[in-house]
Amino acid sequence: MNLPPPTIGDWSAESAARVDARVRLWTPVVRPLLEALYADVADIDALLQRLIGSSVAAARARRPALRLLDIERDTDPAWFQRSSMIGYVAYADLFGGTLKGVADRLDYLDELHVSYLHLMKVLRARDGANDGGYAVLDYRDVDPELGTWSDLEFLADQLHDRGVSLCLDLVMNHTAREHEWAELARAGSATHRAYYLVFPDRTEPDRYEATLPEVFPEMAPGNFTFDDQLQGWVWTTFNTYQWDLNYANPDVLAEMLQVMLDMANAGVDVLRLDAVAFTWKRVGTNCQNQPEAHLIAQVYRALLAIAAPAVLLKAEAIVAPSDLLPYLGVHHLERAECHLAYHNQLMVSLWSSLAAGDAALASVALDALPPTPPSAGWVNYARCHDDIGWAISDADAEAVGVTGAGHREFLARFYRGDFYGSFADGVAFSSNPDAGDERTCGTAAALCGVGNALRSADEVALELALRRLQLIYGVMFGFPGVPLIYMGDELALDNDRAYLDDPAKADDSRWIHRPAMPWDLAARRHVAGSVEHRVFDAVQRLIDIRRAEPAMSAGGSTHILRHTDTAVFSWLRQHPRHGRFVGLANVAAREATIPADALSTAGCSRPRVVLGDHDLRMSSEGLRLAPYGMVWFVDDADGALQPTS
Ligand code: GLC
Repeated sequence: MNLPPPTIGDWSAESAARVDARVRLWTPVVRPLLEALYADVADIDALLQRLIGSSVAAARARRPALRLLDIERDTDPAWFQRSSMIGYVAYADLFGGTLKGVADRLDYLDELHVSYLHLMKVLRARDGANDGGYAVLDYRDVDPELGTWSDLEFLADQLHDRGVSLCLDLVMNHTAREHEWAELARAGSATHRAYYLVFPDRTEPDRYEATLPEVFPEMAPGNFTFDDQLQGWVWTTFNTYQWDLNYANPDVLAEMLQVMLDMANAGVDVLRLDAVAFTWKRVGTNCQNQPEAHLIAQVYRALLAIAAPAVLLKAEAIVAPSDLLPYLGVHHLERAECHLAYHNQLMVSLWSSLAAGDAALASVALDALPPTPPSAGWVNYARCHDDIGWAISDADAEAVGVTGAGHREFLARFYRGDFYGSFADGVAFSSNPDAGDERTCGTAAALCGVGNALRSADEVALELALRRLQLIYGVMFGFPGVPLIYMGDELALDNDRAYLDDPAKADDSRWIHRPAMPWDLAARRHVAGSVEHRVFDAVQRLIDIRRAEPAMSAGGSTHILRHTDTAVFSWLRQHPRHGRFVGLANVAAREATIPADALSTAGCSRPRVVLGDHDLRMSSEGLRLAPYGMVWFVDDADGALQPTS
């Protein structure tokens, strides 16, 4: 049956009733959170009224098309968990030049059935070095090189017309040193000085430094920067020009709420809470993942649910799994927090497996992860615009007979190509020899060895490198969550060393994997047999299969299956309505075998191979997987399932 497209009229009594219902639902949630955060605020009710008032005003100001999205997504809260959600991540300028240019490229994204687009560096950042846009000068202005606020609204509308959600960063932990609030603080405003964490001398900074790590030890050592005009030390977790905000001040909470509401009303569907783990400081700790950082996220979740229930919060918390799950609301209070979080553990585990040619460590690490709550989930990624930190826990490493420090060092060396047998062409980022820490940069293709193989014109090496890239994307697409394609990976884009010539970028090797989209090269995706075609085609296949298989929707449970041959990484998903899914991935450059009854043991009575039948062979020893082979099975024969224990 074809239903007419939905329409919505002007603000009505029904619209008011909906907002009223949301206020009634969420106000009792917000109040105790504020009490816990601001014990010294005498009039919590005044603060509550102020925040709820902002949310209600924003709800009333929403364009009809956005109010319609609110209704649709409120009615279908699992909208972002469908197997048809496909994400794409790009710097707006590097992808399309301008916001209008991005709009002109939407047909390209349609080829990949993209339904979620994360654009970076959209709001106006400071001039010169700006940490890739993460030093925001004005949250209510678009980068003038990209366009205007109305271009942003227009782009959001165009995306919505195509069923695509727009994700933008909410850089909430810090502003640029040149932001208006910082300028006012420097001009002597005590109100604005209190927006930041400023200390008159080194006493307090030194107390904090005793337990603080350094995020950018090479580019920006230390966590405090002296400002002459303020005559004080300002908290700067990241670069010296990124001033941390003081969330212990409720005015900061309220200001950032207004920023979020304005972005939501511009048409942004997903707010990426940048560096959310850092928003609360406590002496004697590493000042990450403090309980109050969760309370802040919960307040925002509730206030956004009043104003714009269509909008999702995504936690950018690249932290240990035990610290990560709470951002999805998995803590002893089980309160609604973010809808999405980056699955850093999966990403690191995949690269670790490829380097080792063995998935035992990945199996241990991923098996130990608690389940996500049904109403929240992962965004999965092979690469992003940041470095890869080798987050291997000592306990997981020891469980497979290696040391954490040894394996982390191995991975750093392997991916900068400094290890026997390495195929990778990455570079180091933020080496911190004192802490035994080195992170890695490089495009996914470069880390898989595609560039190295092309340069040495080695067809065998190229085939293996491309298979690695397909494997890493294949596992990522086969896991529950929204898969994110980082711009250029679908074309196997190589590293770009041009950043070394730009003084504002040269000390930040993350730029090596942020190339501009070479559209001439992208055209080669239609040239049969080209590298671009091989990879683009493989990614399209993953997408087509995922979209066609509801069993690949998020929700339900995931179990890691263990096999004697630890080259095989394998996982079982059980969706409560759509059936079972089993993924097998051979992370080694040799054949691997698992028992013939592996699928029936996993409860699949009638599995269908939906991907990779050419990688699979039945032999007398069992199921044989080709080198870097990957197979997906779906068993939806029995309808609704009983979970296996
Ligand atoms: C996030 C961003 C990263 C940035 C940092 C500071 O981690 O992804 O690019 O450097 O926050 O804003």
